[in-house]
Amino acid sequence: EAHRPLAGRRAIVTSGPTHEPIDPVRYIANRSSGKQGHAIAAALATLGADVTLVSGPTRLPDPPGCTVVAIETAREMLAACAAALPADIAVCAAAVADWRVDGASDRKLKKDGGRPPSLALTENPDILATLSRPGEGRPALVVGFAAETGDVLAYATAKRARKGCDWIVANDVSPGTGTFGGSDNTVHLIRADGVESWPTMAKDAVAARLAEAVAEHFAGK
Ligand code: PMT
Repeated sequence: EAHRPLAGRRAIVTSGPTHEPIDPVRYIANRSSGKQGHAIAAALATLGADVTLVSGPTRLPDPPGCTVVAIETAREMLAACAAALPADIAVCAAAVADWRVDGASDRKLKKDGGRPPSLALTENPDILATLSRPGEGRPALVVGFAAETGDVLAYATAKRARKGCDWIVANDVSPGTGTFGGSDNTVHLIRADGVESWPTMAKDAVAARLAEAVAEHFAGK
């Protein structure tokens, strides 16, 4: 018989980059491929969860067994996550743009021989922090990621507290690690009771192990 410990549980997973428009043809983005987030959505679905994957633009196929909501901007990602509630589990693996262009142009910016334009930025909503906010409708288990380029454990531990999530998966995204875009990841799972450092694994294997940890968490409830 299939091992489906998360049957009956609803999960929201965010994945990929966001694209923040500058004008109708240009945008600000980042190097996230969506591999880690999509693998987590697939792994939770394999364990029986009813998964909504909210994803920015990627080149990946939709993971089997998931409802996929395609978005471009951080504000669209937040709205899609809110629409997918209620959920028991939320995993935020997306690389959401921290800032968007304030007052993006609805016409293509022209190179008219004058000075190059300057872009004013404004802060985007924080989806992880919003989902983590205490209150009715908060998923019972909210898992964030922390993408760091140094002092990974210290920054990630502080991020867990600041965002209010239950667990945080810390990964080093320094140049040369290949964490953004590559197939492998080296992560630390930070929970209230301590840190587990996992060996370097394929992102699919990280996802499978994380999904098992989620299942064990609910089995213990
Ligand atoms: O997509 P891949 O190529 O497979 O790469 C995987 C990954 C490196 C993108 C992934 O493993 C990862 O680390 N994702 C989080 C990237 C990130 O933006 O981290 P952060 O430390 O800036 O953000 C912390 C957390 O807050 C994350 O859970 C993020 O999803 C969330 N966040 C951040 C800003 C924002 N406005 N809203 C958010 O929800």
